[in-house]
Amino acid sequence: MKQDKSISFNYKEFDKPEDLDPADLELLTKAREIALNAYAPYSGFMVGAALRLESGTIVAGTNVENAAFPSGICAERNAISNASANHPGDRPVALAIAAFSGEDHSAEPVSPCGNCRQVIAEEEFRNRRNIRIILGGKNKIRIIESGSDLLPLQFNSDCLKVNRR
Ligand code: THU
Repeated sequence: MKQDKSISFNYKEFDKPEDLDPADLELLTKAREIALNAYAPYSGFMVGAALRLESGTIVAGTNVENAAFPSGICAERNAISNASANHPGDRPVALAIAAFSGEDHSAEPVSPCGNCRQVIAEEEFRNRRNIRIILGGKNKIRIIESGSDLLPLQFNSDCLKVNRR
């Protein structure tokens, strides 16, 4: 038997930051500010990620590059690792991402890389809670209600159980 299947997801797009919910705007503003602290001498692409936890605490991260290129890390994973280490049990509820390049914040919304999507998906999976993703461009902002929407048919710990059932 053959079945044709498809996967789609809904997201929201805003053209003015002022139209965001105040909490989302606060998080995006934090991501924009923290991007300026990035260490990105090789790409010049400075990324900021701000993660809101259930308690309301905001944990931020930037990309930190390295002369040995693969040793660098993205802003999103830095923020998630920081939250996991310093606020265990306080589940992430929203993640805003913004980038600064050249002399300005990027016009287009920044999208997390594949590695970061995998790590965001693991956070959702282990905490059984969606993380709302806020992708910030200067005049275009996308909001996706769950990070896992960005990684359909994902590999997760359930996949490891395949031979243990
Ligand atoms: N980068 C991030 O920090 N997050 C993203 O979502 C995309 C890419 C970083 C990695 C590297 O330091 C630079 O941006 C260029 O790829």
